[in-house]
Amino acid sequence: MSNEDNEMLTMALSKGRIFEETMPLLEAAGISVSESPESSRKLILPTSDPRLRLLIVRASDVPTYVQYGAADFGIAGRDVLYEYAKEQPGGLYQPIDLNIAKCRLAVAVREGFDYEEAVKKGARLRVATKYVNVAREHFAKKGVYVDIIKLYGSMELAPLVGLADAIVDVVSTGGTLRANNLVPVEDVMPVSSRLIVNQAALKTRASRLTPILDAFQKAAV
Ligand code: ADP
Ligand code: PRP
Ligand code: MG
Repeated sequence: MSNEDNEMLTMALSKGRIFEETMPLLEAAGISVSESPESSRKLILPTSDPRLRLLIVRASDVPTYVQYGAADFGIAGRDVLYEYAKEQPGGLYQPIDLNIAKCRLAVAVREGFDYEEAVKKGARLRVATKYVNVAREHFAKKGVYVDIIKLYGSMELAPLVGLADAIVDVVSTGGTLRANNLVPVEDVMPVSSRLIVNQAALKTRASRLTPILDAFQKAAV
């Protein structure tokens, strides 16, 4: 056994839906996790594999941990990865679409707001979102002038209180939009979560990483 085979591997992921949907994939790789990030306050969780540990981080911080090598690999939504890549291009290898945490990024407006008409008239739109880069690129491609307002959550509130004309946010069942009298008017991109790998780790820790990546690849439907 080489030195590399003994080394600890570190995986970054967020609690909530990504953690829950990743557990079956880890199990397919023969690895179980006995502590839950919902009940534990620990940010580093051990696994049944003494050479694999999990870092529990905010969803939008996963690419940062992996790019800088604080984690060897991780799992993040395409929405987060796309937004991150606009600011920190390169450095992340995205080998596998895990097909988990599926949703879409969409433009939504208040019921009764005529989005098509506003676009046709060439109106300048105020758009609230946490995906400022994705939103800017989307509207630039359409030739729509926008003022982007950065928010960190509860985007659905912005059109209701006059902060914005439209939002760009994650939509899954559409329940949150409906509950707030908003309607989706345009798709921006389909989203699912991807495995991301630190490029240096891929080279120097290939023999440790490959079996886990292979198991994830097989388990991802
Ligand atoms: P946070 O809201 O703190 O960023 P989440 O766990 O809600 O963290 O979201 C993590 C990722 O899961 C998102 O980046 C997105 O890819 C996906 N996601 C978010 N909301 C939903 C949803 N309602 N249904 C399915 N996937 C979602
Ligand atoms: C996410 C997202 C939307 C909602 C969309 O919120 O921010 O608000 O899901 O899903 P839906 O179309 O099925 O309603 P989440 O549940 O992650 O809550 P959060 O505000 O804590 O992120
Ligand atoms: Mg969320």
